[in-house]
Amino acid sequence: MSYESDVLRDWYLLFHYGSPDEITAGLGFDVAGLPARCLEFPVTTTEVAGDGPAGRVLDLGCAVGRSSFEFSKRAEAVVGIDFSQSFVDAAEAIRSGKSLSYRRYGEMHLSEMLTATLPEGAHADRIQFEQGDAMDLRADLGSFDLVHAANLLCRLPEPFRFMNRLPALVNSGGYLIMATPATWMDQYTPRENQPEGLTLDYLKHHLDADFEMISVEEVPFLIREHQRKLQLSTSQTSVWQRK
Ligand SMILES: C[S@@+](CC[C@H](N)C(=O)[O-])C[C@H]1O[C@@H](n2cnc3c(N)ncnc32)[C@H](O)[C@@H]1O
Repeated sequence: MSYESDVLRDWYLLFHYGSPDEITAGLGFDVAGLPARCLEFPVTTTEVAGDGPAGRVLDLGCAVGRSSFEFSKRAEAVVGIDFSQSFVDAAEAIRSGKSLSYRRYGEMHLSEMLTATLPEGAHADRIQFEQGDAMDLRADLGSFDLVHAANLLCRLPEPFRFMNRLPALVNSGGYLIMATPATWMDQYTPRENQPEGLTLDYLKHHLDADFEMISVEEVPFLIREHQRKLQLSTSQTSVWQRK
């Protein structure tokens, strides 16, 4: 499904801004059994490299923007970039103080309206959202103290073009947070551009010369499509420090 579609935009608005009660309303099972924090993924991945001052941050594949807003609480400046104009427009609407209405699906043909607003404590004035391509970022983007790329890697046709730019994007001593469920699919990434073995080995191969791997953990996430269709996944989340 295209990241420009209204349905996907609505799924992501609920994923990023819905409260646990809003996300789990109407599910036919006891939600206490869900993995811890699977309803807070866009917040959790911003915290895996620590929760201290973050300096200048780049959120690549920011979608509708929640992680960028989280970083703005402790960063001097945040640039959020996504390929989808529809997602960037939604993020920018929230940043500019609008209440953004979106659909939560009960059965897929039945929906109710919910509202996304600026997360409490976020600093809208520190964030800039823009449309862009992680494989072809503008030359004057500058460098960052932290680059966050959550669930982006396996959606890129040529992931190595994104990875080749990373050493220049991250300041010495700065951090890269790379989260991926490794859902490699030919429709996004031609087979010849997918890792031959484990994705973590592929990342080490591309990053080891310029980055030291600090940690790896599985971070669960749940995306509600409708009340009987949920995507429960985990994202292998590695933290790298620029040498
Ligand atoms: C699976 S979503 C993850 C979004 C968000 N980081 C999250 O964790 O919820 C993948 C995102 O990458 C974006 N994307 C896909 N290809 C891209 C590209 N070439 N450059 C930048 N963003 C891209 C999509 O529009 C989508 O927002």
